[in-house]
Amino acid sequence: MLRVVVCVSGGGTNLQAILDAIENGNITNTKIEMVISNNPGAYALERAKNAGVEALCMSPKNYESREAFHQAFCKKMEDVNPDLIVLAGFLVNIPKEMVAAFPNRILNIHPSLIPSFCGVGYYGLKVHEGVLSRGAKVTGATVHFVDEGTDTGPILLQKAVEVQSGDTPKVLQQRVMEQAEWIILPKAIDAIANNRVEFVDGIARVIEA
Ligand code: GAR
Repeated sequence: MLRVVVCVSGGGTNLQAILDAIENGNITNTKIEMVISNNPGAYALERAKNAGVEALCMSPKNYESREAFHQAFCKKMEDVNPDLIVLAGFLVNIPKEMVAAFPNRILNIHPSLIPSFCGVGYYGLKVHEGVLSRGAKVTGATVHFVDEGTDTGPILLQKAVEVQSGDTPKVLQQRVMEQAEWIILPKAIDAIANNRVEFVDGIARVIEA
């Protein structure tokens, strides 16, 4: 059984997609041990509670320094010791110590086709604003493992989504979620849970069932 901690900051629609996929059998051999939010007002915390999953808020604002927050966050993760940490719209940088403690065991969903529209400053709606202002015709989402950089770790799954004329950042964000994020994130977790991920020369891939 893959024991997972999901980290969230906002609405939690990706968390909901994971919970639903576990419920309907699209993800097997997986248990969500805990949901952690940095934001006390995140609706994702309600989604966790509604599903009977432990929900914890750890806000950097409640610590003396970023350093103190990082230490507490790492300590919590080491205590729970999940097999996999999933960043599902988690808008906080992961401390280097945590990346080192969980090598290729932290998964992130990013709402673009990496290496486009990613890196420092590209998160949430800003990604879709960037896509529209550049005039890109295709965008999408990426699931990747987390390394010490920002959106630089091994790519596991990607799915393309068409940009349509008249799109606003919000309309595009919704389409990317519906057509890509909510599909590839559960698919990636199921593949990891069922030993269908392989690494060759630092490149990750899913072995299709
Ligand atoms: C999602 O679009 C996710 O890809 C993005 O934040 C949103 C969270 O929505 N993540 C990033 O931008 C990370 N760089 P949700 O809370 O409804 O799942």
